[in-house]
Amino acid sequence: MVRPRFEVDEDIRRAHTPAASLYCDAKVYDAQKKSVFSRTWHYFSHAFGLDEPGKARPVTLLPGCLDEPLLLVRDAQADLHCLSNVCTHRGNLIVDGEWTLDSLRCGYHGRRFHLDGTFAFMPGFEEAEKFPSEKDYLPRIPIAAWRGLVFASLAPAVGADEVVARVEQRVAGTRYGEWTFEPEAGYDLEIEANWVLCCENGLEGLHTPHIHSPFSGRSILPSPRTELWEHGALQTDPGSEGDPVFDLPEGHPDRGERIAAYHFWLFPATFLTIYPWGLALHALQPAGQRRTRVCFRSFAAATELRPPGTLEALRRTAEEDAVVIRSVQQGVESRLYRGGRYSPASEKCVHHFHRLLAGWMAGGRGAR
Ligand code: FES
Ligand SMILES: [Fe+2]
Repeated sequence: MVRPRFEVDEDIRRAHTPAASLYCDAKVYDAQKKSVFSRTWHYFSHAFGLDEPGKARPVTLLPGCLDEPLLLVRDAQADLHCLSNVCTHRGNLIVDGEWTLDSLRCGYHGRRFHLDGTFAFMPGFEEAEKFPSEKDYLPRIPIAAWRGLVFASLAPAVGADEVVARVEQRVAGTRYGEWTFEPEAGYDLEIEANWVLCCENGLEGLHTPHIHSPFSGRSILPSPRTELWEHGALQTDPGSEGDPVFDLPEGHPDRGERIAAYHFWLFPATFLTIYPWGLALHALQPAGQRRTRVCFRSFAAATELRPPGTLEALRRTAEEDAVVIRSVQQGVESRLYRGGRYSPASEKCVHHFHRLLAGWMAGGRGAR
């Protein structure tokens, strides 16, 4: 298969944005499944509620894109595993809901597995030769649990520790990363647009005064401080007057600065915004060439520091973004759209995203 490729000039002052095929061509999207989504880390689930041995939760990795049926399960030794949820006999899905189990049992013909995915028992196979073998175990998928968030990757090209290192650096030694999951605050929002357009929107604040009204200060401001690296970007937000700000300890890299939010983006499509009250996570899930699911999850560290109406404002912001992103999808499908230019002042992260994406789509693991 020919790999669809594109290039973006490394100098943002000269660079042009990608051609419309990046957002509109089903072949490009299909190629990204292999070159990007299979090899990168995705927010997958959380570990809250999975503390006890035997706790199992089925989760599909990127529904509508990779569509991989997986199972998060805590074994008797308290290790968390991510296993294929597909029976190695004839392919039935094994676990259909969140349960506490002492073994995994397929409901079709009764094959049993231990909680770590190894084969346990199956009636009627006494005469089968060289049975069971490792092929009869449930395949394991790499996961990384970071502060209660679980990331998964089918075939990771980089280590998850490397990917979250900058986020960890900002919360390590503070009281701001000790959060718990808030199940009632989460929602999924479907947008009829390509995932790349959704990411672009989340990476710049140039649109904030135009799209988000009333301007709440809870979206990215037009000119925050920006850091770019191989696996993502950080936009450090001073916030508006009256917003709670971080009280950072001695030795913290940002001690002494006024910071109301850290807007992290991890390639390809995970947005983590850390506020003094906790973490707002937006995981963008491609769900088709022209469909993206925005999964919002809230993790609270100190709810007393969360201004009233914050979660409602975040949702309103996401819905306002969805409206303009749908409009952009229609726009880039126009025969007359020829690509655009970047604002060197406010679109550094968008430019960086495109360069990283170009590199991964070419088979690498960095900017191109
Ligand atoms: S498909 Fe699972 S036991 Fe047959
Ligand atoms: Fe926005």
